[in-house]
Amino acid sequence: MNPIYPDLKNKHILITGGSNGIGEALTRTFAEQAKEVTILDQDYDKGLLIAKECEKYNCKVNVYCVDLTDTNALASTLATIKKERPVVNVLINNAGYDPRYSLLEMSDAQWNDLFQLNVTHYFITCRELLPDMINAGGGSIIMTSSHQVWLANPDLIAYSATKAAIIGMVRSLAEAVGKHYIRVNAVAPGWIMTERQLNQWVTPEAKHKNLQQLSIPIELTTNELVGIYLFLASDTSRAITRQTIVVDAGHAQS
Ligand SMILES: NC(=O)c1ccc[n+]([C@@H]2O[C@H](COP(=O)([O-])OP(=O)(O)OC[C@H]3O[C@@H](n4cnc5c(N)ncnc54)[C@H](O)[C@@H]3O)[C@@H](O)[C@H]2O)c1
Repeated sequence: MNPIYPDLKNKHILITGGSNGIGEALTRTFAEQAKEVTILDQDYDKGLLIAKECEKYNCKVNVYCVDLTDTNALASTLATIKKERPVVNVLINNAGYDPRYSLLEMSDAQWNDLFQLNVTHYFITCRELLPDMINAGGGSIIMTSSHQVWLANPDLIAYSATKAAIIGMVRSLAEAVGKHYIRVNAVAPGWIMTERQLNQWVTPEAKHKNLQQLSIPIELTTNELVGIYLFLASDTSRAITRQTIVVDAGHAQS
């Protein structure tokens, strides 16, 4: 059960990667409370399915199909959204990927491609949407980082670098736009049992080992995560900016 934030009912929320995993949970959660939710995702069919299922709420869910690593396509999609939809009040940069590479075997292309998805699209959305947010007199930007920045697993060097880059971006951007009443914060989730994690990485042994490393031994799902995004999106958090909130049951020594 999530808290209700009445001010969200006038807000337009844009979520990258809103068709699956954490993004899907965010889309469904915000659709219950917001005026409009816009998903940017390459999984168009799943986005449309979620939009259909959210018709029961008093919220319009829009889906735009785009490859977030294609900077020109992304900028052009955002230009369309600016024409067709209300001003984005809350931007949630969330899409990302977590491939395992050892440093010695990682190619330039693998490194650059990961930054293109995990960092560059976060910058492009901010650059394109901030002017309207400033004109609107305020807003909230939330970026999904990861507790891997602190855990520092050896096969996630590139991933950890992208997620640390986001925390740096959040801190500087918060300084730049605070005078326009725009908050910028990061959420750093722990290991969240999304469908892709379950299919790709979760084994009974890994799950058992993970639970033993947590201060609070609970299996983390999106249910443990979405509330913090609601809070950071709502004006209830109007004095909170430049922060990274780690939601990992005490796993990382952040
Ligand atoms: N799941 C976890 O355990 C975990 C932990 C810490 C941080 N995170 C971060 O949370 C965010 C979401 O992760 P998730 O586990 O929900 O991922 P996911 O793979 O379940 O969902 C990602 C979504 O992004 C979309 N996407 C991916 N690449 C895209 C592209 N190039 N263009 C358009 N859409 C694209 C996918 O279609 C999908 O809908 C990521 O930034 C991830 O790094 C996840």
